[in-house]
Amino acid sequence: MNGFGSAPGKIILSGEHSVVYKKPAIAAAIDLRCEVTSKKISNGIEIDALDLGLKKNYSFDDIKQLKQNPDQIHGIDSLAILADLIVPGESLSLKIHSQIPISAGLGSSAATAVSVAASISDLFSLDLSLEQISNFAYQSEVFIHGKPSGIDNSIATWGGLIVYENSHITRKTLNHTMPLIIANTQVERSTAKLVQGVSNLRNKYTFINPLIDIFGELTNNVITSIDKGDMNKLGELFNINQGLLDAINVGHRKLSEFIWIARDAGAIGAKLTGAGGGGCMIALARNDKHAEEIANKLEDQGARVYITSLSSKGVQVGK
Ligand code: MEV
Repeated sequence: MNGFGSAPGKIILSGEHSVVYKKPAIAAAIDLRCEVTSKKISNGIEIDALDLGLKKNYSFDDIKQLKQNPDQIHGIDSLAILADLIVPGESLSLKIHSQIPISAGLGSSAATAVSVAASISDLFSLDLSLEQISNFAYQSEVFIHGKPSGIDNSIATWGGLIVYENSHITRKTLNHTMPLIIANTQVERSTAKLVQGVSNLRNKYTFINPLIDIFGELTNNVITSIDKGDMNKLGELFNINQGLLDAINVGHRKLSEFIWIARDAGAIGAKLTGAGGGGCMIALARNDKHAEEIANKLEDQGARVYITSLSSKGVQVGK
């Protein structure tokens, strides 16, 4: 018998980075997903990341070693530790297939961790609750991101649209179309390093804290504009947000280039999404046809564009 789990990627509409300092953030699941099939095997943990062409076997001694030396944990290692955390000492294989680009700000690592937890829950009939799945995934995220806020594993678990503040989740409904374009600069970056960079700035300058408060206030305005379906205001807030994200040094030349291509093509607003420093930007269009026009302009300039829609579906346990 196989176990199966899948979970969505995400975009952050507002509040990346400031969410680490317990300010609100709002995130939406997208219809790019990760899928994990698990199987019982005889000895150790085997991980096969099909899209990355990466396959690794771990003995339980390897896992013990990694746990004792967290600085040696890279990429998929955290998933072997996660498996051993959920079902200690059980041998199993995990086959991962993901549509979510890695290191691009779309929540690929959290979606993978959530899918792994869901797949193991299915394989061993653990009947894990959503909270348990999300908490396990969070622990795996800690190994690679240092001090994550928890927003990525939460949106990958619950799906839809959520406001996340200080570990508290509020689910929202979207009662207005929000035609968004996601464009990937294909500049890979590390969330942990970017989060650390903001922390360094905060230690260096006392005025960074009030700036983080402003991100929080801005996000509250974003939430209200989404509730009211006020897309013009939402776009304006995206643009202000981008300016502030540049100010805390999480921008990138390529992101700015794509953001300006989208704005020149009439986007109501555009900003980076996720940790920044490369990765993806989002742009808000007037309607679906306009979104396509903006997407074409971005593609002409070398962007990898994802025409995805927001997804209400969170984690799936079993087929
Ligand atoms: C990453 O998707 C969002 C950040 O705010 C980090 C985090 O919340 O853990 C940059």
